[in-house]
Amino acid sequence: MSAISLQRTRKEIPPPVHRGMKKLDREAFKAKVKCLAVRVDEKAVGALAKNKVVQSQVLSMSRKRAIEADPSTSTNKLLLLDVETEDQLSAEVKEQLLPLSKGFVPYEIELGYDHWNAFDILHATLPEELLDDAPAAFTITGHIAHLNLREEYLPYKYLIGQVVLDKNNNIRTVVNKLDTIESEFRVFKMEVLAGDDDLVAEAHEGGCKFTFDFSKVYWNSRLSHEHNRLVAEFFKPGQVVADVMAGVGPFAIPAAKKRCFVLGNDLNPESVKWMEKNRQDNKVQDALRISNDDGRAFIRRAPLMIWKRPFAPLPPPATLLRKLEKEKRRAREAAKAGEVTAEPANPSAEDPNQTSPPEQPSPRHISHFVMNLPGSALEFLDAYAGSYTPLLEEADFPGRDDIEMPLVHVHCFTKEIEPEQGELDILERATGYLGHSVSKDVEGYNLHCVRRVAPNKDMYCLTFRLPKEVAFKS
Ligand SMILES: C[S@@+](CC[C@H](N)C(=O)[O-])C[C@H]1O[C@@H](n2cnc3c(N)ncnc32)[C@H](O)[C@@H]1O
Repeated sequence: MSAISLQRTRKEIPPPVHRGMKKLDREAFKAKVKCLAVRVDEKAVGALAKNKVVQSQVLSMSRKRAIEADPSTSTNKLLLLDVETEDQLSAEVKEQLLPLSKGFVPYEIELGYDHWNAFDILHATLPEELLDDAPAAFTITGHIAHLNLREEYLPYKYLIGQVVLDKNNNIRTVVNKLDTIESEFRVFKMEVLAGDDDLVAEAHEGGCKFTFDFSKVYWNSRLSHEHNRLVAEFFKPGQVVADVMAGVGPFAIPAAKKRCFVLGNDLNPESVKWMEKNRQDNKVQDALRISNDDGRAFIRRAPLMIWKRPFAPLPPPATLLRKLEKEKRRAREAAKAGEVTAEPANPSAEDPNQTSPPEQPSPRHISHFVMNLPGSALEFLDAYAGSYTPLLEEADFPGRDDIEMPLVHVHCFTKEIEPEQGELDILERATGYLGHSVSKDVEGYNLHCVRRVAPNKDMYCLTFRLPKEVAFKS
């Protein structure tokens, strides 16, 4: 997660105040600060600066050293003190300084825009009445920082954007989300406030690289834990995972990398376009099939589709092949040397000459459905009714008793923030849309609180095994 907070620099002299500045004028922050310096032999100055008593009155400022060259002599240094006059020094400090001092001199520190952080500059420029709720944090996606400015801050948006850009080296673009009303594809309109007009971001998650146009698809770095949770805890290599609302692939790509067989679907053509790029960049073309359907239609056709057209078996992982190759080489060398060695691990007991492990067979049924469209995914549960019934027509289908039903992982929101009430609310709605009871007692049941999205709104993931009564409904 990359949320950066804007905080005041420790023990800092504030910048010159320019309330109401709208266009950033960096020159306006030039300032001179007066302090007292003590002239000390350069051999003694280091120890003096570290002296516990003296330290309490040594100048302590970020990005400013307390020991400076003495312009009048090369063998002396100036130790800067955080007082302006000698009589402001405490008696104890004076007692330590005097034996080594070659005299006190006035010193002027020149500060500029670069000296202060974003918090300091914003607090010196925004109108007084806006200071309490001044933008306190922003989120980073790739090289893009995104702000969510309230209306009263909009007159100062370009200044805020420029300051955020200037003060964060890893950011190239600063945007403001234009509205809170999300579209069907959950994409925010955004305006570039500062920096490059480049909204194609590159993000890294779950050991995978994702590229996408941030203004055209959904991406939320705050969901990385949830992506990782399902991939790590639920998906097993060799299983088929169907991601109904896959976006640009934050569940689908890591699952395919884990050697699951993945059906990644999304209604937004832009999501599909970038998911395709991410499939290529992460080299999982063989393990991820992409479609651009409505989620409801996808749920209804996926079970039959995978039965009729399973994935081609995946070749064994490169690491296993390398290990086997290494063992074979060792065995050959040992045989040459006339040593008796243990047999190299051979994956095929029947065929002792086989040099590589057998390919993983690919299953013909789905083990997991993922539905991360929390605003409405529960409503899609009705699509499961009868979604497996067409399989009964297939000559080679063994029958409903011989197949394991998939786990459904459906994301949703609830406004009930008491966990028990939240659970009741979610189960009631899931039952209604599925047309079948979903309770704590159903097989595979799990309810996981993903995160609080607003003071009175939590996001959950409900997991349950799809009941055969629903899937094979006539
Ligand atoms: C909250 S995003 C989740 C994306 C991704 N799975 C993730 O975890 O970041 C929801 C996705 O659902 C897609 N979507 C919206 N309506 C849909 C529908 N009717 N059918 C399929 N996908 C839909 C959106 O385009 C968006 O990519």
